[in-house]
Amino acid sequence: MTDKETPKGLGRGLTNYGDNEFSLYLRRSMASSMGYSREMLDKPVVGICSSGSGYNNCHRLMPELVEATKRGVLAAGGLPIEFPTISLGETFLNPTSLMYRNLMSMDVEEMIRAQPMDAVVVIGGCDKTLPAQLMGAANAEVPVVYCAVGPMLTSPYDGERLGACTDCRRFWGKYRAGEVSDEGIKRIEGSLATTAGTCAVMGTASTMACIAEALGMTLPGTASIPAVHADRLRAAEASGARAMQLALAKGDDRLLPKDIITPKSVENALRVLLAIGGSTNAIVHLTAIAGRLGIPVPLDRLNEMSDETPVLVDLKPTGAHYMEDLFAAGGLVGVLHALRPLLHLDTVSVAGETLEARLDADKTWVDHDIVRPFDAPFQEKGGLVALFGSLAPRGAILKRSAADPTLFEKEGRAVVFSDLADLAARIDDPELDVAADDFLVLQNAGPKSPAAMPEAGYLPIPKKLARAGVKDMVRISDARMSGTAFGTIVLHVTPEAADGGPLGVVRTGDRIRISVQNRSIDLLLDDAEIARRLEEIRPTEVQPIHKRGYRHLYMNSVTQADQGVDFDFLVWKD
Ligand code: FES
Ligand code: MG
Repeated sequence: MTDKETPKGLGRGLTNYGDNEFSLYLRRSMASSMGYSREMLDKPVVGICSSGSGYNNCHRLMPELVEATKRGVLAAGGLPIEFPTISLGETFLNPTSLMYRNLMSMDVEEMIRAQPMDAVVVIGGCDKTLPAQLMGAANAEVPVVYCAVGPMLTSPYDGERLGACTDCRRFWGKYRAGEVSDEGIKRIEGSLATTAGTCAVMGTASTMACIAEALGMTLPGTASIPAVHADRLRAAEASGARAMQLALAKGDDRLLPKDIITPKSVENALRVLLAIGGSTNAIVHLTAIAGRLGIPVPLDRLNEMSDETPVLVDLKPTGAHYMEDLFAAGGLVGVLHALRPLLHLDTVSVAGETLEARLDADKTWVDHDIVRPFDAPFQEKGGLVALFGSLAPRGAILKRSAADPTLFEKEGRAVVFSDLADLAARIDDPELDVAADDFLVLQNAGPKSPAAMPEAGYLPIPKKLARAGVKDMVRISDARMSGTAFGTIVLHVTPEAADGGPLGVVRTGDRIRISVQNRSIDLLLDDAEIARRLEEIRPTEVQPIHKRGYRHLYMNSVTQADQGVDFDFLVWKD
């Protein structure tokens, strides 16, 4: 069917009653009951995919953003129709938000497909929401403009600024070490998150907003606008107007997500991820988003790029500043200018312009302390590296930009916790046999474990060591860690323990060697011993943890970290 023949607006994708004219008549009749004039019902429709929820503090201003988006659509001559999907408030979900990312992505994908719309503005931002929405939108057959809700502002506290959530962890560590009182931690709790918006540092949400912009799925220049800034509403209005233009566009101008998310734009996004010192979670999410379009994100490519791409942005948890400072510095465009020689400039954004045209037109890079030039970087090498070896045959991730380099080339004795309950029960036991030079190992916290890969990889320093002044230790697990966390923490060990990975056979007292330089992580046992132990723990009869429902589907279908923790049936199929 050509563009000309494709029905627009409410005539699109009719409900099946076996009589299309009847279907349209009935649909218009029901839509009329919402008070629309017939003139409005004949206009092209721009859907507004909203993820507001009382369980999502980050999306508190969703109603205002939807209103502003509607304004943009109306002014451009379209009919805006808001629709809800589920929302994932990071700290409100049990066992962990990641488990529901794929569910939300299915909700977004199917509601865009099932309902009549000629284009859609998708709004969200909290950690798993943005990836879920881009995963869901990747295969849309209508144009999609993504609009992030924007980051929180910081708030003053005892002469410094606090912002979720690197400071949350810093002060919690001090509280555990006895350096902050009960009264103090209560005051801090009330000062960490004081506005709407996503966490104020370069955590997962901000990283993914930058990735969405680098991919080209948002309007240029919008990733870092604070949630409460009037520019954020203007960005929503402009997103609505642009979506309407795309709804009317024909031929090659009618850009679909598959025209924007390409192998080249995914490489650009990886560069940006490395240069902003972005979250480890983003590698899983970008792999999942790209995977929906059949674009691989191999970890050895990450390693190659990591060596060529310095960290340019001085934001927590890697550096000292907050998203509001990146905004004041001109936003992501400075990073793109600094990375220009490494980027694919012929990629196209939802604005319809190439990256080259954008960079030629937009020179708003105003602060070279927050966003450093390429030849005077904040750190010489990219933020993330993948380690491979007998402990992680398919890879593990280390955020070296937020880690202690004195622990990068090291052999240590494993102190093993078999799961999260074991960790909680023993980590602070004064009798625990542990020293600062040991490696803490957590098993059974990967995607297929009952814990479903929570952000538990940031294992606490045992209290007795914390009180003795130990700030960092090598910690290894198949879990994830929050994008706002820091430390020498090896994550996403693949295959995971619960899927028969060698992590599951490590015992307290075994030796492990990591070398960031060699990109290696090895369990210092001979191969035959590892194989023997794996055979020993092989389950004879697999008992499903969840017998029914979504959790059953999840456990049966979830892939490993190197494949994005997506469902095997949702990745691209030719
Ligand atoms: Fe939503 Fe941090 S809790 S981004
Ligand atoms: Mg987070």
